[in-house]
Amino acid sequence: MKKESDLMQKIVSFSKRRGFIFQSSEIYGGFGSCYDFGPLGVEMKNNIKREWWNEMVRSREDIFGLDSSILMSPKVWEASGHLTAGFADELVECNKCKKRFRKDLLEEDRCPECGGELSEPRKFNLMMKTFVGPVEEDASTTYLRAETCQGIYVNFKNVLQTMRAKLPFGIAQIGKAFRNEITPKDFIFRTREFEQMEMQWFCDSKDADKFFDYWLDQRLNWYYGLGISKKNLKIYEVPKGELAHYARKAVDILYNFPFGWKEVEGVHNRGDWDLSNHSKHSGEDLKYEGFYPYVIETSVGADRSLLAFIAEAYQEVEGGRGEKSVKEVETVLRMDKRLSPVKIAVLPLVKNKEDLVKKARQVFDLLKRDFNVQYDESGAIGRRYRRQDEIGTPFCITIDFDTLNDDTVTVRDRDTMKQERVAVDSLTKYINLI
Ligand code: GAP
Repeated sequence: MKKESDLMQKIVSFSKRRGFIFQSSEIYGGFGSCYDFGPLGVEMKNNIKREWWNEMVRSREDIFGLDSSILMSPKVWEASGHLTAGFADELVECNKCKKRFRKDLLEEDRCPECGGELSEPRKFNLMMKTFVGPVEEDASTTYLRAETCQGIYVNFKNVLQTMRAKLPFGIAQIGKAFRNEITPKDFIFRTREFEQMEMQWFCDSKDADKFFDYWLDQRLNWYYGLGISKKNLKIYEVPKGELAHYARKAVDILYNFPFGWKEVEGVHNRGDWDLSNHSKHSGEDLKYEGFYPYVIETSVGADRSLLAFIAEAYQEVEGGRGEKSVKEVETVLRMDKRLSPVKIAVLPLVKNKEDLVKKARQVFDLLKRDFNVQYDESGAIGRRYRRQDEIGTPFCITIDFDTLNDDTVTVRDRDTMKQERVAVDSLTKYINLI
């Protein structure tokens, strides 16, 4: 147990030290479980989002993209059931220290902080309220969206008509969602502001089971393809009594985080819950050829999956990897090249030789059009390699004295540490091929 929490602590401090993730409003002491993605974190998160988008939208003819607004009519949330009991956590309050806890997360009947007696549970809605317009009155109250998919349902007809879509088809979007979580926990695992990547697949009800299995399979393969090992992923079918208010069936994809097996993605059969309720509340007919399509949903947090990808990739090697003798522990982020925040580091062998530095700058300029490249000339070359290994950079390109004669460089691979001599004018092709 201690080992696991140690690993999580290491990941948290690594994320800060190397510019992946900072606490929000840190100079003011932080702010209620919100986080900021630093220069490397934003690159990595963009890579995750791009991989998801390529897989779910760009590589298919039957899924369309969307970017709907965060603020919507409050009627959307009445219709979706999020303002009523459906979207609420059961809370208990400690009679002694007055702290509140989610009942479903408690392991015992007493307060986990002070051992005091707990109150009867009370429902607490998770929607974040806000006010639109200059006056804070009821008429202008709305909510920050708690799931991105509601923007998809209210645009179902728009997409159907403008894309001349035929069932089955999907609509996908990536965007922020907000929940007033009571017990935000485990770094960026559960936060109050997060980003979702959601796809809603509209189909005939008789095909729903078949597509549910199909999408679960597709989604598992996405993780495997990006380097998550099979032993660290498993599925969990949510029991009937614990299903969300909209779901007929739900399977969670669980990742083996350092703090235990936890949901990273949900695949849901939402039946006709959303389209029929929006039809009823809006008066707009959202049927397709006389019936309401069923919805199979895949929903993953961009931030939460980023944590899983970092946890999977993070490795410490005692005494180093033998490249040069190092006494200390060496950290390597062995992640899929497509997710690495920096693709290439350009390193002049020494920094005090003008023509070498000039050449390195030229190589940097050549590559920066196609890749995220970092230029680094400070410190011994071994140290610079290790700095890049630590942030998962797959390729280090070294410009040495031979480069000035034959226009070739060495390309070092992060995982094998093998170095290959490559001509400068074929570098882009070489990197793209690997
Ligand atoms: N539209 C369905 C839906 O929102 P969910 O199971 O509530 O379903 C789906 O959320 C995914 O969104 C989760 O698997 C998780 O990856 C992410 N997510 C949900 N709440 C989150 C939170 N408070 N912080 C970070 N990610 C969250």
